[in-house]
Amino acid sequence: MTALLRTNEPIVVPVALGDRAYDIVIGRGLLASLGARIKALRPGARTAIVTDETVARHHLAAAEASLAAAGIETARILVPPGESSKNVATFERVCEAIIAARIERGDLAIALGGGVIGDLAGFAASCVRRGIDFVQVPTSLLAQVDSSVGGKTGINSRHGKNLIGAFHQPALVIADTALLDTLDPREFRAGYAEVAKYGLLGDAAFFAWLESNWKDLFAGGAAREHAIAVCCRAKAGIVARDERETGERALLNLGHTFGHALEAGCGFSSRLLHGEAVALGMAMAFEFSARKGLASAADAQRAVAHLAAVGLPTHVSQVAGGVPGVDALMDLIAQDKKVKRGKLTFILVRGIGQAFIENNVDPAEVRAFLAERTAR
Ligand code: GLY
Repeated sequence: MTALLRTNEPIVVPVALGDRAYDIVIGRGLLASLGARIKALRPGARTAIVTDETVARHHLAAAEASLAAAGIETARILVPPGESSKNVATFERVCEAIIAARIERGDLAIALGGGVIGDLAGFAASCVRRGIDFVQVPTSLLAQVDSSVGGKTGINSRHGKNLIGAFHQPALVIADTALLDTLDPREFRAGYAEVAKYGLLGDAAFFAWLESNWKDLFAGGAAREHAIAVCCRAKAGIVARDERETGERALLNLGHTFGHALEAGCGFSSRLLHGEAVALGMAMAFEFSARKGLASAADAQRAVAHLAAVGLPTHVSQVAGGVPGVDALMDLIAQDKKVKRGKLTFILVRGIGQAFIENNVDPAEVRAFLAERTAR
């Protein structure tokens, strides 16, 4: 395929949610226009940037300079990096800091960071003064293609991930693809699992395009903006049709049932990043679907081969320190997904780009599959 040419114009993907509609703006170098874009969105608004110490080192000065150039007052709220900041104590601290900064209705919180910051700041925005607007400025690949879009916000409970939260849509998403240049390569690769997910779940042509163009995407070529836009368009469509996940939105959980169990089994540690767990989970969802005769072995092999080609794990034996045994994994799967009348819900596939929701999976079949997988 001919190489994509980069244009100076950002790509704008609208999310059609009536009076809560918003744009996702995608392009290289957009952080410099943050102030101007916020001024155009909400003239006269004051802002508070919520970010973590790592992101702050790389990008806070540029964000603040852009806001200052547009004459926008801003406060900064820093939290420690990592999933452990998605807790009640940090949430309370962020809410109090937003209030102390005199951010009122009509003003804006800005989530500058990856998925943890987007979830935490978005949830704080949903609660402070019974809801203020917020802008997502995602700084990880995973956040640019998935978590910054769609309004899922929240923190973790001692009982599990994202169990305290709210649907609260951002007023604007600004995805500056140049911010991904400073990401740790492992972190970038893990985020790529969510990119591949959009091809694997509903867009076979996009998956084929990724097979040919992923290197340009990793290298920061024009393929990066194109891929992020394709993912955001897909997600925007799904969210517009099923904002509260009563149906179709669950397809975005492809790979997440096996993935969450493995992630939890590794203690949500750096042994297995979320995106790596999703890659492993998608490989398993394809192989499980092939084992059930729903998808061809060739399609399962093709999905696995691509994930492996970019360096993502596709077999549990690749997880440093190993994974829990079958009994522990089955317990984790039962916790992650509701068991209805003894059956499990999984996102399965009929082929590349053909995911569907299966509410009637027999736990015995899953157990047998896991036994095979963990024995090899
Ligand atoms: N990350 C899945 C969703 O937003 O529904």
